[in-house]
Amino acid sequence: MKNISNIPLSGKRVLIRVDFNVPLDECFNIIDDSRIQAALPTIKKVMQDGGRSIIMSHLGRPKKGFEKRFSLKHIAKHLSDLLEISVGFSRDCVGKNTRVDINNMKNGDVLVLENLRFYPQEELGDSAFAKQLAKLADVYVNDAFGVAHRAHASTSIIANYFPNKKYFGILLNREITSLKTALEKPKRPFTAIIGGAKITGKIDVITSLFDKVDALIVGGGMAYTFARAMGGNIGNSLVEKDKVELAKSLIAIAKRKGVQLLLPTDSVNADAFNNSANIQNSEITNVPAGFMGLDIGAESITQFSKAILDSKTIIWNGPMGVFEMENFSNGTKKIGAAICKATENGAFSLVGGGDSVAAVKQFGFADKVSYISTGGGAMLEYLKGKELPGVVAIED
Ligand code: 3PG
Ligand code: MG
Repeated sequence: MKNISNIPLSGKRVLIRVDFNVPLDECFNIIDDSRIQAALPTIKKVMQDGGRSIIMSHLGRPKKGFEKRFSLKHIAKHLSDLLEISVGFSRDCVGKNTRVDINNMKNGDVLVLENLRFYPQEELGDSAFAKQLAKLADVYVNDAFGVAHRAHASTSIIANYFPNKKYFGILLNREITSLKTALEKPKRPFTAIIGGAKITGKIDVITSLFDKVDALIVGGGMAYTFARAMGGNIGNSLVEKDKVELAKSLIAIAKRKGVQLLLPTDSVNADAFNNSANIQNSEITNVPAGFMGLDIGAESITQFSKAILDSKTIIWNGPMGVFEMENFSNGTKKIGAAICKATENGAFSLVGGGDSVAAVKQFGFADKVSYISTGGGAMLEYLKGKELPGVVAIED
């Protein structure tokens, strides 16, 4: 891989695409700065070399040009605190004023550009816009794994204008290396844990993982569609009625391919979707009328934990239940704990996806897994076996 690590960047204007799409509260305080922290090694490398870091990112999904709540200004301030230098901010990401801001930079300086998505051309992958961005710098670095699955102007098209001067940032390089460790020559047994509310976004991932893993654990809301497929009663649990047949066929495919498909056998149920609802436990195929399943039960936890502890490679995307509510967090917490234990015993574990990463942090497991990805959608695309436009653009 064309990695930035060994490239001398003294005096160079280095345009770094990062993914600073971080959650903010209504006062623009950053709720979770992991993605910013994760980009620091690349920025520090450019600073130490005496290069000029020009940082570009999107934030949110603005649709009508400038909107204060999507301004990267709030992020630039935080980056100043993290780097302990005064980070500059340019009110635009292209055009004359931005060029002036860049001309005023000194070696080692860092400048954050305004949100790329204030221009619709960004998401459209517009070549003229990409060219305008490219004019700002001598070198292009992509360190934005979280958005590497998008073929946008700043993530992919722009690379055309830096034929011999495009590199992977340190973060993007680590992300891909971690995914390759898990997927290319995994130490076996290899177990994938897929959770979350819906099957819909994850069918292709599940199907593709059947060709790679020894065991696949399914939890979260999507497990109830499988329970229905097995002819169970699931009360008011979440179900994708149009996916029941598909769930049936996934069970059959797993069998044919010799993959151990582990579905929850029991369920923690509530009579309302809140933490103070009445709770009861049942088999997952016997959820009483008036109740909905919100977490995996004790027997499932035991069964899943055993498979996890036997594994040498583990990937996890999606929680086991509604972990945001204390009473339905046990499944996610115990599965997280099993992954930590397996890691301690020598397994390689990779966690991705906004919810699972939030859970890992909430339960204090962040230092106990092998790698936490900054990507959700991008990781899923990679797991499907798809090429990521942001990665291909540098490799080409
Ligand atoms: C994300 O958080 O999913 C990435 O930053 C990409 O953002 P997007 O889903 O709006 O393209
Ligand atoms: Mg997304």
